[in-house]
Amino acid sequence: MSAHKELAERHRRVLPSWLALYYDEPIELVSGKGCFVTDAEGHEYIDFFGGILTTSIGYGVEEFVEAVRAQAGRMVHTSTLYLIRPMVELAERIAGLSGIADAKVFFVNSGTEAIDAALMMCCAARKSNQVLALRNSYHGRSFAAVGVTGNRAWSPSSFAPLSVSWLHHGDRLRGIFAGLDDKEMCRAAAADLREVLATTTAGDVACLIAEPIQGVGGFVVPPDGFFGALQEVLAEYGILYVSDEVQTGWGRTGEHFWGYQAHGVRPDLLVLAKGLGNGLAIGGVVGRATVVDALGPNSISTFGGNPLAASGALATLDYILEHELQANALAVGKQLHRRLAQATASSKIVAEVRGKGLMLGLELVEAGTLTPAPQIANRVLQAAKERGVLVGKGGLYGNVLRISPPMSVSGEVADQGASHLIEAVEAVERAGH
Ligand SMILES: Cc1ncc(COP(=O)(O)O)c(C=O)c1O
Repeated sequence: MSAHKELAERHRRVLPSWLALYYDEPIELVSGKGCFVTDAEGHEYIDFFGGILTTSIGYGVEEFVEAVRAQAGRMVHTSTLYLIRPMVELAERIAGLSGIADAKVFFVNSGTEAIDAALMMCCAARKSNQVLALRNSYHGRSFAAVGVTGNRAWSPSSFAPLSVSWLHHGDRLRGIFAGLDDKEMCRAAAADLREVLATTTAGDVACLIAEPIQGVGGFVVPPDGFFGALQEVLAEYGILYVSDEVQTGWGRTGEHFWGYQAHGVRPDLLVLAKGLGNGLAIGGVVGRATVVDALGPNSISTFGGNPLAASGALATLDYILEHELQANALAVGKQLHRRLAQATASSKIVAEVRGKGLMLGLELVEAGTLTPAPQIANRVLQAAKERGVLVGKGGLYGNVLRISPPMSVSGEVADQGASHLIEAVEAVERAGH
């Protein structure tokens, strides 16, 4: 039996059935360098998914590895009951980068935990349990995070600690706003928000929480200014605005350091995780001090901002800034987008190539229609792996391939990965899927 087969069997025996694995024969990635990873059977791949947009600067980056190794040798854990120098330094750096005046930062261990913390801060600040979220969103897997996740495929329970009202999202391909131009879509979204507030809430809503680009939702990109149009309405009610930057932060969209900056909004809180630690478990909330400080009773996070994760995150942030990875995401993202769009322009199974920077989605459909084709997406995912490139999947219907390599990816490697992916699309299309 192969090493992968044997491990997959053991995995299935002792891990939950809902802990999904990619591929007919799941693989174990055991080492990596730059944007390349190697599996337990010695196959090398270009990593176009970066551990779900988390390996932000790449594998085996010396500065990062050294910072983590040095900190591990000195001190791994003390708890937040004691001063943690790397945590304080990281908070100062993130507060400065946030675009929010006099910001404070609270560190946790994951995006989910950060979402929970942000919602609790807003509810405490506004003394309300009402929140607004977008359809087709994904915010994590705790009760509160699932409660604001607008995607049945990721919502195992309808129980939620919050009263949630749902807004339309910014999909241009299908859905209620499809076909509208940018201005009309922003206007329609604001009108929808007014109606939702008037019909499904008591008015004193705590916050709106939204991803600037819906990640798990299939890299759905609303027009620039979409959230600005919503915030004009929110401001009339004093409703707070929370930008979930778990996927869009740290320059990944190329144009901006944060996703919210494309929208002319003033967020009250940003939610952080994934790319911040380049794979180390760290998440956080940065925002207006009055909102962050709104929690009355004591609170701690045993592991949040621990010396190891904070040191790794500082090294990651330094690397992103010193190597201008935002500019790289813009340039290589544009090149990749162009290449994929040109190569699939006449494909009958690719309805759209979309995205910003190094967040690119390929929407797979039944040939010549707009009907979502999750089976075809699966086949292309598999065929791409067989050709040496790992991509991700998402979308409300599970039919969107997601391309999000480490932000350090070179134009050459991106082109090589794109060739493999294009060949995979062509092979699946030729086979009549
Ligand atoms: C936008 C967004 N928010 C929150 C989360 C939850 O993060 P985590 O998986 O670290 O709990 C995710 C995870 O994919 C995400 O994409």
